[in-house]
Amino acid sequence: MAKLMLALDVLDENKALKIIEEVNDYIDAVKIGYPLVLACGLDVIKKIKDICDKEVIADFKVADIPSTNEKIAKITLKYADGIIVHGFVGEDSVKAVKDVAKNLNKKVIMVTEMSHPGALKFIQPIAEELAEMAKKLEVDAIVVPSTRPQRLKRLKNIANLPIITPGVGAQGGKIEDILNELGEDDYVIVGRAIYQAEDPKNAAKKFKEQIKNI
Ligand code: XMP
Repeated sequence: MAKLMLALDVLDENKALKIIEEVNDYIDAVKIGYPLVLACGLDVIKKIKDICDKEVIADFKVADIPSTNEKIAKITLKYADGIIVHGFVGEDSVKAVKDVAKNLNKKVIMVTEMSHPGALKFIQPIAEELAEMAKKLEVDAIVVPSTRPQRLKRLKNIANLPIITPGVGAQGGKIEDILNELGEDDYVIVGRAIYQAEDPKNAAKKFKEQIKNI
């Protein structure tokens, strides 16, 4: 069975921790990004882990030169279990993060194709090469769009790596359209459709049940 990763893009620490308490039984991992960390600081990761003891992935889409990537990874991975990086900046930039992560026994997850409409112009044309690069660099997983199930399948096949896939819920992606492609090492990412729901616990429960019905 694939796993459910909550994208916790709220701007208030109390709200973030309350949601974690509510959905804890139904999620397998948490993805935090700039919205929460810029609002509350990296310490929020420790507070999340104190409540739910689940893997926390920092979605910072790191995209700089190797030496700067290295610094970002060193700080982030003191707190988080994994970090998301962009691949289009090149192998050396991704490798800088990978070296830090390897030393700390943490994960590096690389973006291939993004889920939003704007990704079609610049990222989609190079996404297959990025998936090949991810395979060569042996990153821990790739990010692929659930808004485009055929692309998800194609990129997963090329990289032959676990996937984490955003786009279900608010962006219009549907779990039933991607279920056949998902394995037990893969994560479906859901954000707004859970944390903006009237009842986040129930929303998370429903997504978890849908994932179970493979
Ligand atoms: P929603 O609210 O749309 O949240 O369920 C989705 C989460 O995933 C992030 N996101 C992406 N991250 N590649 C990524 O690395 C993507 O293509 C992508 N699309 C969405 C988004 O920032 C939010 O946290």
